[in-house]
Amino acid sequence: MKKGYYGEFGGQFVPELLMPPLLELEEAMKTIMKSAEFCDEYTRLLTDFIGRPTAMTHCRNLSRELGFNLWLKREDLAHTGAHKINNTVGQALLTQMMGKTTLLAETGAGQHGVATACAASLLDLDCEIYMGAVDVERQSHNVKRMELFGAKVVPVESGTKTLKDAINAAMRKWIADQETTHYCFGTAAGAHPFPLLVRELQSIIGREAKAQFVEKNGKLPDYVVACVGGGSNAIGMFHDFVPEESVKIIGVEAGGTGEPGCYNSAPISLGTTGVLHGMNTKLLQTEEGQILPSHSVSAGLDYPGVGPEHVYLHDSGRVEYAIINDGQAINAFKTMCRKEGILPALESSHAVAWALENKDSIPAGSNVLVNLSGRGDKDMDIFEKYTAEYGN
Ligand SMILES: Cc1ncc(COP(=O)(O)O)c(C=O)c1O
Repeated sequence: MKKGYYGEFGGQFVPELLMPPLLELEEAMKTIMKSAEFCDEYTRLLTDFIGRPTAMTHCRNLSRELGFNLWLKREDLAHTGAHKINNTVGQALLTQMMGKTTLLAETGAGQHGVATACAASLLDLDCEIYMGAVDVERQSHNVKRMELFGAKVVPVESGTKTLKDAINAAMRKWIADQETTHYCFGTAAGAHPFPLLVRELQSIIGREAKAQFVEKNGKLPDYVVACVGGGSNAIGMFHDFVPEESVKIIGVEAGGTGEPGCYNSAPISLGTTGVLHGMNTKLLQTEEGQILPSHSVSAGLDYPGVGPEHVYLHDSGRVEYAIINDGQAINAFKTMCRKEGILPALESSHAVAWALENKDSIPAGSNVLVNLSGRGDKDMDIFEKYTAEYGN
């Protein structure tokens, strides 16, 4: 495959001014990231700071009801409450070893912002986070956490005031400050080498999950499921399972309210090919190539594009991509709380919902392993607003 491409998807569609830091990053991945110094320190931080390996939980009560075994890989138990920390600690360490002083990031749900601010604090880096003004409001708790960690949070008022606009603003800032600053991108999307870098740092999820599952059961799971926003928790979970042909792999996109023609966040299932944020991928866009507003009840899935490797995995037929709507995700959110004592992020609830909604077509006795990408404490305000509007 051509460097930086997954089939025809990926690439480096950026202004010329961004090529130097992208090339510098590619070089750092080849040298610094492969060094024993980096690997030893990153491994130490994964264990001693992030709390890895995260647990794997068998959902006993739900499994009894569903007729198949539901397993969770518990990224909600990672420090700061989501998988995002695996990536930010790795990129922060790389930044420090590259001799740069500042971490710049965008965030949607705020989890990546919190994880970046936390990693910056740990490694004594300055930190600036761009966040759509709508997300600043719907994830105000996370804004406060970022500020406590010492980050400057910049609300972005342009466009739909969500993740897409935060990425645009952060990219402009990176062009200006590239000498001192690393852009700590939060998902497995964007220009090469970001999809590869983020996959490398997140693939610990699938590596651990595979070993834990085999140790507990003496075999591989039948299904592996994860939600797809930009695609980082999913690609991290999937990477080690892709070569295992017996494992069915399911990515879950957000369908929004679910009415015909509603705004959604499902570019693989409902989008068309185009270029955004430096990559050729599937996008929600008009025939003229204008980006359409996206929607999901979960801020972290609310993005009109997706990482290029997912589009390749879809087109090659290796991974199936499904759609779950807001109501189904909210139902899974409540079910997980009531039946298992686990409060999942609304993003992860989309993946859980896939298992609940497909219970009739999943053979009895199967093993379904869902990546619980984060915890739902951050989503309590959204949940309360949703139930006030639509009822319990
Ligand atoms: C808990 C959680 N899960 C999933 C996502 C979606 O991102 P990605 O597709 O990169 O994993 C987010 C994004 O903020 C998140 O906070």
